[in-house]
Amino acid sequence: MSPLSSTPTIDRQPPSAINEHPSGDKRFKVLDITMKRNQYRSDALIEVLHKAQEAFGYLEEDVLYYIARGLKLPLSRVYGVATFYHLFSLKPSGAHSCVVCLGTACYVKGAGELLAALEREMGLKEGETTPDGQVSLVTARCIGACGIAPAAVFDGRVAGKQTPESVLAAIKEWLPDAAS
Ligand code: FES
Repeated sequence: MSPLSSTPTIDRQPPSAINEHPSGDKRFKVLDITMKRNQYRSDALIEVLHKAQEAFGYLEEDVLYYIARGLKLPLSRVYGVATFYHLFSLKPSGAHSCVVCLGTACYVKGAGELLAALEREMGLKEGETTPDGQVSLVTARCIGACGIAPAAVFDGRVAGKQTPESVLAAIKEWLPDAAS
């Protein structure tokens, strides 16, 4: 029997079991470090949610499950806190999401230019969704991919060494008139 399970249940597992997200997404490592630093105490929930918001740009269901499991809290409590405070945002409303990392390593490698190009070409500001509901633009502070800075995340897929042209090309693939 495999010790791994893809079912997102909230088992009471020891903290040692929470060391690598099955997706390999390094952003979960950032959460691990924060939870470990707080000795997996449930009263660290807000700090961990802050860190998750910084790392992911928003709090999607998978992340909330992960935190609930790590801190041994009911998912309902994690949802409750995440939705109560307006500084936390759940998954963006767009059909697709683009997260631009504005952490230090990415910023010095030109992340500001990526964001500026998206804002200029898409008519979007950070945190906004296109009027047709297709694309939400979000920023994060270090997504754990500094070695391939500047990095962006397209619908959960981390992409490194981005340029204004590459981020625009990735987003335009999502648009109905992509052929034009
Ligand atoms: S600063 Fe962007 S991945 Fe670390």
